[in-house]
Amino acid sequence: MNRSSVILCTFLILLIACSKDQIYVATQNDYSLKSLISQHGGLDHFTLPESTDYANIPQDASNPLSQIKVELGKFLFFETGLALDPVHDIAMESYSCASCHVPSAGFRPGRPQGIADGGLGFGIQGEERFMDTEYQETEIDAQGIRPLSVLNAAFVTNTLWNGQFGATGVNVGTEDLWSLDPLTEVNHLGFDGMECQNIEGLDLHRMVISKEVMDEYGYTPYFDAAFPEFSEEERYTPMTASFAISAYLRTLLTTEAPFQKWLKGDKDALTEQQKNGAMLFFGKANCSSCHNGPSLNAMKFYALGVNDLYQIGALNTSAADGKNKGRGGFTGEEEDMFKFKVPQLYNLNDSPFYFHGASKETLRDVVEYFNDAIPENENVPSSQISSKFYPLNLTESEMNDLVSFISDGLNDPNLQRYVPEYILSGNCFPNNDPFSRLDLGCD
Ligand code: HEC
Ligand code: HEC
Repeated sequence: MNRSSVILCTFLILLIACSKDQIYVATQNDYSLKSLISQHGGLDHFTLPESTDYANIPQDASNPLSQIKVELGKFLFFETGLALDPVHDIAMESYSCASCHVPSAGFRPGRPQGIADGGLGFGIQGEERFMDTEYQETEIDAQGIRPLSVLNAAFVTNTLWNGQFGATGVNVGTEDLWSLDPLTEVNHLGFDGMECQNIEGLDLHRMVISKEVMDEYGYTPYFDAAFPEFSEEERYTPMTASFAISAYLRTLLTTEAPFQKWLKGDKDALTEQQKNGAMLFFGKANCSSCHNGPSLNAMKFYALGVNDLYQIGALNTSAADGKNKGRGGFTGEEEDMFKFKVPQLYNLNDSPFYFHGASKETLRDVVEYFNDAIPENENVPSSQISSKFYPLNLTESEMNDLVSFISDGLNDPNLQRYVPEYILSGNCFPNNDPFSRLDLGCD
């Protein structure tokens, strides 16, 4: 090939590359979607920070992110060796935070309800966990509400479906309520939701953090490196453990989801159908009027009148469970009754249980529920139901498009990067009971 034909060739290749570029840049859907998103805060608002970009991840000023805290938290969250306070000794060292927040299940339990202490088995991603018959139903660690995902938790100032934890954000002005419940007393420390909640959470989930235990497994040097400003008496405590776990949880960002790639400029990351779905989400279907935070979450509470967990049949919960009242269960205010926090929407595909009572098992059912806008829970007075919950008149194909966007467009396929390869105790994780050990291939 002579020189001019090389130049000609290069020119042709460039031309083809450019025109291909132009084809997808010029897609009408991309322009329309971009313009719709601009009306809701813009592309940057919905672009999640990279998990190592500590400067740009929202954090509690009392607990600045650092690599060593994140590393320590990544161990502790999965550490079955912390399970040292079970109701029956048989469950010693058998469960962890990740028993109910299973990574491959989108950091949810893989079943409608999570069970830690008093549970046996794992299956493939938690779906086969069951109650140990050594336990009474009232003795197991299982809450009367579907576990929230901890993905994108950096954007949650006040944790739980009722937002009860955290001194900041929506809880400013609720100070008088904090001492009414021994759990929310922790808010008086003044931290954000996660830092507060995880101090209590370790105790609630029957885990032990102490100098002796940290020495035994070899975590002490990590605490020393992460928390040099704490005196030795205060360095190996539920508070520092909470700080480390919270730091780790703040890095769980679904940055590899197709929608995230699209926001960052890869216009081919979403299919045309997913783009259509996204346009409905930010347009005709009006989902973004509530799901308008960076992870499509919001620190707002609404009643959609969905069923509670006891109504689908779960352990250790009933119609009298305070969790069923949502925000009202925390504030006691009539106007807050049956209102629940707007959850984030990434990696929902990983575990088919939706809404706070796990009353829907496909995303199609969820979309139909919004499309019909008929509340299913008779206990919720119609006066509480959000005025933004109204029939949408979506066609069949529009519903398919919307489902395609949520299920696949918002699915980060690589959550495994957030899972440690081992934990320092050497135990099996996320569970370590005999049934789980078999399921997890630890024996
Ligand atoms: C027995 C199951 C179970 C275990 C074990 C468990 N969780 Fe949870 N987690 C839940 C449930 C249920 C909720 C929602 C509770 C509610 O809203 O009332 C939740 C909510 C959360 C949230 C709030 C997320 C948000 O968006 O508000 C965080 C953070 C969290 N858990 C962290 C942890 C940590 C850290 C541990 C270990 C110390 C842990 N969890 C152990 C079941 C569990
Ligand atoms: C009125 C505000 C509002 C609107 C509008 C809204 N949502 Fe939601 N969404 C919520 C709240 C609040 C919840 C949690 C409700 C509960 O479980 O009690 C929720 C839950 C969900 C869930 C289940 C998430 C989970 O973790 O279980 C999905 C999926 C969802 N919404 C998608 C959508 C889609 C799609 C649209 C548009 C068709 C939409 N939402 C419109 C407020 C809203």
